[in-house]
Amino acid sequence: MAQALPGLPLLYYRLLLCVEITRLAFRQNFSPPAATLWYNLNPKFINCLAGGMKESVQDFYGNQVQKTEDLDFDACCIADYDPGLLEPLTDEVKSRQYGCGSPIPDLISGLTALDLGCGAGTDVFIAAQLVGPAGKVIGIDYTDAQLEVARRNVAPIMENLGYDRPNVNFMKGEIEAIDLPDNSIDCVISNCVINLSTDKAAVFQEIHRVLKPGGEFLIADIVADRRIPHKLRENEKLYSECLTGADYEGDFTRRMAKAGFNDVRQTSRRRVKDVIESIRFISITYRGFKIELEEHCEDFGQVAVYKGTIPEKPDFYSLDMGHLFTSGLAQRICKNTADILKQSRLAPYFHISDEISHLGRFDCSPGATADAGDEETTVACC
Ligand SMILES: C[S@@+](CC[C@H](N)C(=O)[O-])C[C@H]1O[C@@H](n2cnc3c(N)ncnc32)[C@H](O)[C@@H]1O
Repeated sequence: MAQALPGLPLLYYRLLLCVEITRLAFRQNFSPPAATLWYNLNPKFINCLAGGMKESVQDFYGNQVQKTEDLDFDACCIADYDPGLLEPLTDEVKSRQYGCGSPIPDLISGLTALDLGCGAGTDVFIAAQLVGPAGKVIGIDYTDAQLEVARRNVAPIMENLGYDRPNVNFMKGEIEAIDLPDNSIDCVISNCVINLSTDKAAVFQEIHRVLKPGGEFLIADIVADRRIPHKLRENEKLYSECLTGADYEGDFTRRMAKAGFNDVRQTSRRRVKDVIESIRFISITYRGFKIELEEHCEDFGQVAVYKGTIPEKPDFYSLDMGHLFTSGLAQRICKNTADILKQSRLAPYFHISDEISHLGRFDCSPGATADAGDEETTVACC
């Protein structure tokens, strides 16, 4: 209740504004049924009345932006993909990338992946190559115009890949209520979308529900170095450009933990150029597993040895920013890392020693914090 109170004056002004708009419309001889229809069709008005950002975001990605360069800030356009994986994509799909990272998982051949907020489908079509013809990739988005682009490009891209049958499926839906069964997905990916959600807690609960035990998520998203004031969150443009809807970094990881994802790792991290009212934004790729982990890394005297058996990675395997395993070398690890390596699809590629006894806390962090000099992105594509 205490948290809701600061929003009350805003709600009051919003209601006044709505009444004023209605009064003006009627003064201009709108008949009541026509006015009702007009307002119902006007997303801005609905947004004003409901105070929600959903319609603004849908309008933004449905009508206002047609290509990456239409974005004015660089938060949603700092992805860097392996050029070989982009090659089979059509120009229409490639010109509509609005991601902030490259959340492309390894070792997903034959598996089922789900892309939350797939937009025009770049990550779906890239993952389609990695799961191969025996696997499947599902893309979910709530904006029709984005889905139309994705769907009309399925046939040409499948032809470029030489697949007889499409291994992708684009579904209309909300990522806060995913229309898929429990424990049905091997890997969830998402690229610059959760910052736009007005119910981020529900998104992580849904990710946890649909993932199979041992399954993984790879999420590239924008977080802020502090909690964003309400007045900035109300700015439709800044919100839709993936900035002011972002969580404070600490709150974002707390939400994940609350949904069942403890000790989520980072695989990349870089500062966004744009600074708004002294607020700095960071683009982070998070890697989490549906495995019961402790809140913190604890030392049980364990070591891991990477066997060097992952195709194309004979020398090293990078689990996250804090763990680069060298083939054949024993490396000390915490119990959480041991459990990730034992209970996920990485298990066949590692030897893990047994627990000895608890030896205290273990530092798994890569040592990067927002103030410790996050590398600022130099890629500005808009
Ligand atoms: C910044 S764009 C990113 C698109 C895509 N992931 C990419 O990398 O190009 C955000 C996309 O998420 C979709 N989106 C935002 N919130 C959503 C929600 N709650 N449910 C479903 N889709 C959502 C928008 O329609 C838009 O297509």
